[in-house]
Amino acid sequence: MKFANDFLFGAATASYQIEGAWNEDGKGVTNWDEFSKIPGKTFENTNGDVAVDHYHRYKEDIALMAEMGLESYRFSISWARIYPEGTGKINQQGIDFYNNIIDECLKYGIVPFITLYHWDLPLTLEKAGGWLNKTTAQAFVQYASTCFKAFGDRVKHFITFNETVVFCGHGYLEGAHPPGIQNDPKKYFQATHNVFYAHALAVLAYKELNLFGEIGLSNVFAPAFAIDEQQDNIFAANHANQYQLNWYYDPVLLGRYPEYVIERLEQQGYLPDWTLEELAIIKKAAPFNDFMGLNYYQPVRVEKLTGPVQSVELTRENATGRPGKPSFDHVYRSVMMDDKRYTKWGWEISPDGFVDGLDMLKQQYGQIKLYITENGLGDEDPIIDGDVRDTPRIEYISEHLSAVKQAIQHGVHIKGYFAWSAIDLLSWLNGYKKQYGFIYVDHNDNLARKKKDSFHWYHGIIQSRGQDL
Ligand code: NOJ
Repeated sequence: MKFANDFLFGAATASYQIEGAWNEDGKGVTNWDEFSKIPGKTFENTNGDVAVDHYHRYKEDIALMAEMGLESYRFSISWARIYPEGTGKINQQGIDFYNNIIDECLKYGIVPFITLYHWDLPLTLEKAGGWLNKTTAQAFVQYASTCFKAFGDRVKHFITFNETVVFCGHGYLEGAHPPGIQNDPKKYFQATHNVFYAHALAVLAYKELNLFGEIGLSNVFAPAFAIDEQQDNIFAANHANQYQLNWYYDPVLLGRYPEYVIERLEQQGYLPDWTLEELAIIKKAAPFNDFMGLNYYQPVRVEKLTGPVQSVELTRENATGRPGKPSFDHVYRSVMMDDKRYTKWGWEISPDGFVDGLDMLKQQYGQIKLYITENGLGDEDPIIDGDVRDTPRIEYISEHLSAVKQAIQHGVHIKGYFAWSAIDLLSWLNGYKKQYGFIYVDHNDNLARKKKDSFHWYHGIIQSRGQDL
């Protein structure tokens, strides 16, 4: 089977992780500009001040993407370049920068796929309460509408939010992302609701404009599976899916929250403060949501917790995705299993979990339109005789693209695949050590770009529309 001609082969990045130029051309300061400079918050105290300097080298980078044969490029807009203070006065230089990126993509026939919020929040908004403050949702719609109007003539795909579970979970439970709050489930659920509300408002605002194009959201896709057939563990997997999956997919796709979670949050006093009007907006917007973006890296293997729970210290290292932690409500924990494969950062490699999860998603939500908006391997790539030999990445992506193929054959409606990432970039918590790109960036040689083995391999895959996978 070949992938259809309207299936997009792409790759992705995010503003804070590649742009740099943190204080140039009128950009405002963001939560990450501040947070990454608190000693110990990131690996070797790396930050995005320069990142890989894409802000100044975007022409070179997009030319390389074109050479690789990318059909689509997913990138995010930094809110603080458009609205330095979050709201108020528009910074024209920010609009110009993204117009240049878009036009550069179109010059090569690359379809721009825009993420509006990939975690860098204007600091003024963070200081006013960030995602706990409902006015942030209003500010987001204003910012989103400005982007729709400025770019919507050429950009036909908008993602509102990237991985709500991560920026809210890390922001209010683990304290590993801004605003760095630990163990506060009440705030965590409140923030998620405010984000869903902001998403719904943005979807409605986009539809009002009557542009040709589509809008959706990108969620983490980490389907939970029980470690064995024991009833307790099956219950735990279902519980995990309700909290980590349905809580994030239902409001967007069905326009309501899962009853299972609501009941428990009510008992525990964690139910978000929401108004009937907000719930009505979420409901109204759901049928207009055009697609769901899935960021798939690994499934979760879960085991029911019994007896007293040893709490795990909340550190940066513990927040980087390796299994082993209890859930916030101490119902289950994620487990590393002897018979599974793992990356250097302890992330399971499971194309089968991908197919099974996609089948599960189809069972629950029907044939909704999906894009795989992220998937890839974080690794330390060997350099042999000057060449970047990232064979494990080729294997990883090859196995996962085959999984996508299988799922399509099962009737799952997938319209594109974006590898993470187009180019090596700053990992939020792991600095430059953890590489994902097709293009290597040499931090010892003025950030020079170099094509990796995977660059040439992906080119071939796109050319043949994945026929030989
Ligand atoms: C998900 C995030 O969207 C992205 O920013 C991050 O770098 C990758 N996962 C890898 O962890």
